[in-house]
Amino acid sequence: MEVIVRPTRESAVALVARLIADRLRARPELVLGLATGRTMEQVYQALIASGVSFARATTFNLDEYIGLGPESPHSYAYYMRARLFDHVDIDPANTHLPDGTASDLKQAAADYERLIREAGGIDLQLLGIGESGHIGFNEPLSAISSRTRDKTLTPTTRRQNAAMFGGDPERVPTRALTMGVGTILEARELLLLACGSAKAEVVARAVEGPITASVTASALQLHANCKVVLDEEAAALLK
Ligand code: F6R
Repeated sequence: MEVIVRPTRESAVALVARLIADRLRARPELVLGLATGRTMEQVYQALIASGVSFARATTFNLDEYIGLGPESPHSYAYYMRARLFDHVDIDPANTHLPDGTASDLKQAAADYERLIREAGGIDLQLLGIGESGHIGFNEPLSAISSRTRDKTLTPTTRRQNAAMFGGDPERVPTRALTMGVGTILEARELLLLACGSAKAEVVARAVEGPITASVTASALQLHANCKVVLDEEAAALLK
């Protein structure tokens, strides 16, 4: 795990966007794993501004809320169109998110894993970290070998994401379909971005604590090619 600390949120975001753009330029047919959330909004703005082409890229998002279709403004499918896909030259047919409205979620999860395999696996997976220590929506006690499946969101996560639901945690869906920790660890390269003091404690536990299912992001320590990019606030509790 390579930890890179940047003085400001802006410079941390700029570095992550530059790394992604570099990988896309070096390998235009990149299979890119994407994340959502507030931290990523600025990364996508910077990627759009970079002018890098997504024409031959394929994307797989980490997760989607269960019960929200792609037209719901709260769905991650909507988020991705609004914040990235509608502003770059990606072929919408090459963008993928788990289907949170599937009547058979087990089948939808298995289909998602198969699509990732058929695409040749993920070259670069972008990650944020939740205050619960989650990556994707792998909440505490997710197994390190877990695959795409439905997960119940913790109260911490529903509180963290309430801002996107008018500030009311009760309006945040209770479940999500998420790539598993095992799915994420199979990506050839991982790139985690965390900014702000609210993430400092969980970042310290994930990066310097024991590998434990209580902090699922600690599993990233097992990956041979993982960069963790932090601003100074998120890095404040590292030794
Ligand atoms: C969402 C996802 C989550 C977020 C995490 C941080 O697709 O993968 O793990 O990255 O919850 O969210 P923000 O950036 O809103 O703090």
